Amino acid sequence: MSLKEIEKMYSFHSKFYDITRPFFVWNRKKAIGKLELKEGSKILVVGCGTGYGFDRILEKIGKTGKIIGVDYSKDMLENARQKFGNIDNVELIQADAAKYKPEQVDAVFYSYSITMIPEWQKSLRNSWEALKKGGALVIVDFSEIQVPLLKHILNWNLRKHGVNNHLPLQKELRKYFEELNYKEYFLGYNFIAKAIKN
Ligand SMILES: C[S@@+](CC[C@H](N)C(=O)[O-])C[C@H]1O[C@@H](n2cnc3c(N)ncnc32)[C@H](O)[C@@H]1O
Repeated sequence: MSLKEIEKMYSFHSKFYDITRPFFVWNRKKAIGKLELKEGSKILVVGCGTGYGFDRILEKIGKTGKIIGVDYSKDMLENARQKFGNIDNVELIQADAAKYKPEQVDAVFYSYSITMIPEWQKSLRNSWEALKKGGALVIVDFSEIQVPLLKHILNWNLRKHGVNNHLPLQKELRKYFEELNYKEYFLGYNFIAKAIKN
């Protein structure tokens, strides 16, 4: 899906995103728990959408930490802005993650975004460059459920929504990170990957 199509799709989805997604977008809380955030951490959230998890992240990083949320969709970001726009240590940036060069951060989080970023390798490289040594990069996203028939239905639906759940992600991550933990959940429905920068 092109960026233009993504923008159009999320302009529509932004209106009901927060209500519908908990039914099929799972494990986001668990993934946040793996970010190793502490008081004062600065975190980059790529494809932050409506700001899911920002409240949980803010609890961990406190007033001295900072969230930098990047998203291409103006309407998804507007939704995030309504909820978090008046919080001093939340910065929301409208940009293509493949082009955006972030400042140095302690952690990077991709929640159901990397599989739909057209130039995902460039985005990953930018994230890696921004990540401080010892920092964690955590990705939660769709994998491929190992249930006959259901697998084809889900794959079709993901493709229809611009999601590529067959990215060679582990291979790409291993180019940058020596320490990588990758685990699938719910019979392969989704995964959490965690990498530490050495
Ligand atoms: C499924 S939503 C996930 C939102 C949020 N992270 C969550 O967990 O609910 C995917 C988000 O990725 C954003 N996105 C897609 N391609 C992007 C790109 N190239 N740069 C920045 N954001 C992008 C979309 O606009 C959308 O808000």
